Amino acid sequence: MTRILLVEDDSLLLEVMANILEAEGYELHRASNGKQALDQFVVDHPDLVISDIMMPEMDGFELLRSIRMMPAGVTVPFLFLSARTERTDVSIARALGVDDYLFKPFDAPELVEAVRSRLNRRRQVELFDTRSAHLQTIIMLANVIETRDPYTAGHLERVRRLALNLAFSLNWKQNDIAVLEFGAILHDIGKIIVPSQVLKKTGPLNDEEWKLMRQHPVAGAKMLEGVDHLRAAVPYILYHHEWWNGSGYPQGLKGIKIPREGRLLAIVDAFDAMTTNRPYHASMSTEEALEEIRKNKGVYFDPDMTDVFLKTYKAM
Ligand SMILES: [Fe+2]
Repeated sequence: MTRILLVEDDSLLLEVMANILEAEGYELHRASNGKQALDQFVVDHPDLVISDIMMPEMDGFELLRSIRMMPAGVTVPFLFLSARTERTDVSIARALGVDDYLFKPFDAPELVEAVRSRLNRRRQVELFDTRSAHLQTIIMLANVIETRDPYTAGHLERVRRLALNLAFSLNWKQNDIAVLEFGAILHDIGKIIVPSQVLKKTGPLNDEEWKLMRQHPVAGAKMLEGVDHLRAAVPYILYHHEWWNGSGYPQGLKGIKIPREGRLLAIVDAFDAMTTNRPYHASMSTEEALEEIRKNKGVYFDPDMTDVFLKTYKAM
């Protein structure tokens, strides 16, 4: 249950506000001055604080300052309840990190809306923080793979950028683009099963080595299947070596039977491979690589996506 710490020395107002918020399903913790509120904050870890400014013992400013100094209090939404509208008060409160003001007198809907919008905002921020923590973890993981394969240094980052650009140009939805970012970073994670002497080999691979290399999409997909927040990225890992004409691997799918995630990544992955020095070939110029992509439109690559890629790349 969402906990709210309500701090107000006017006991009647305190009860009125507490009743309004309890009726909305919040768990209310009450304090009649800043000192008492600070003690309660430490014990209760509320999700939001609403505090009066002028109070005995410790005023609202001092309370806010003290809460912001605690690790658990740095981001907790804090609303001031005030009868005073002097600009100096507002600017002091802003400098201390207040999230919102409620000016007395206020009505019930105003109070409820202020609380709800602050809590929603907090949830959005938390979601964003969680996502960027995930992203950093998988970047670390992907870097481990990349360091085994020195010829591809920077490949994942470039593929991520190219893939995002192409998806934006194709007007993919925001949610799909979020998954794409994970997929682009992790697409070669299955290469962990390929011995580094194979990854670093300068000559052509023999049959046995090719067999190993061609297992990396399936190996990578298996690694991600058990991870809830990464499972959606599996199509990128599994299908990025399928070719439009059916000559790719692991399943030899053809045309639009190849999930669009694979079709998109195939273009940008191939483009980056061509423009980078690899053990088995020297890099092409950007123009040569773009020409190569164009020549293979409808052969290896989805014709519509290829057109958009060529157009987008030239505009970049
Ligand atoms: Fe790959």
